[in-house]
Amino acid sequence: MRATMNGTGFMFTVLDDFAREFIDYAATLDEPVLELGCAYGVATLPALAKGATVVASDLSQQHLDILLDEAPPRDRDRLTCVQAELPGAEFPAGHFGAILCSRVLHFLDGAAVDASVKKMFQWLRPGGKLFLVADTPYGIWRKFAPVFEARLARGDRWPGIMVALENYLPQGPTGRPVKGPPFMNLMAPELLARCAQEAGFETVRAEYIDRSDFSGLGRMDGRENTGLVALKPR
Ligand SMILES: C[S@@+](CC[C@H](N)C(=O)[O-])C[C@H]1O[C@@H](n2cnc3c(N)ncnc32)[C@H](O)[C@@H]1O
Repeated sequence: MRATMNGTGFMFTVLDDFAREFIDYAATLDEPVLELGCAYGVATLPALAKGATVVASDLSQQHLDILLDEAPPRDRDRLTCVQAELPGAEFPAGHFGAILCSRVLHFLDGAAVDASVKKMFQWLRPGGKLFLVADTPYGIWRKFAPVFEARLARGDRWPGIMVALENYLPQGPTGRPVKGPPFMNLMAPELLARCAQEAGFETVRAEYIDRSDFSGLGRMDGRENTGLVALKPR
C-alpha cells in the first residue's frame, strides 16, 4: 500500500481482478480510457505499458505530478493527466471506451455518488465498460458492519454513511478524531449495481472482492472491497 498525500487512505499497489480486467480491456481499445481517483497511477501505468491511451484523473495535482514523473518516457505521449474532483469533474460525452473508478466513491455522499456514476455514463461511448471498486463495512471498518446491516435490512438508500470514524477503528474507539475524511459511504455489491442501473448501465457482475491481503488489520472475511463491471448499452 502507498499512502495518499491528502488523507484519502492508500493506493493498493497489488491490483484486484476489476483493475486487472480494466487494464486488459483498455489494451484492446483504440479510443482512450479514463482512470478516476488514480492516485499515482495504480492502473494507469500498467494500462499504458500494454499500449492503452489513458486519461488519468485525481483530486490531487501532487499525485498526478508523481504519476507524470514515474511514467516511462515511451508511454508519456499516450498519457493525459487531469486534476478534477468528483462529482464536479467534466469530460467530453462519448469519449472513453472504459472507465475505472477504484476506491473513491466511498468518500462521496449518496447524491454525489449518483451524480458521478451518471456522468460516467455520459463520458463512455455506447458499448463502453464501467469498472467500479469501493470499500465495504467488512474490511478495516468492520466494527460498523452491524449498523450497516440493520440499515440495509430496513431499506435505507445509503446504509454505509459512517460519521465519527474514531468509533469504528479495528482496535476500538480511541476517543480522538481520526485524521482523514469527515465521513465514509461504505458500499456493497447491490448498492453499486443499483447506482449503475439507475444511471442506465447493464450490470455484468457485482461482487465482493477478497482483500484479505491487507496487512496488519486482524482477521478478514473476504468481503473487504466490492466491485462492479457494467456496460453502457449500444
Ligand atoms: C484510496 S485512494 C485510491 C487509489 C487507487 N484508485 C486505488 O484503488 O488504490 C483515493 C484516491 O482518490 C482521490 N480522490 C478522493 N476523493 C476524490 C474525488 N472526490 N474526486 C476525485 N478523486 C478523489 C484521492 O486523491 C486518492 O488519490
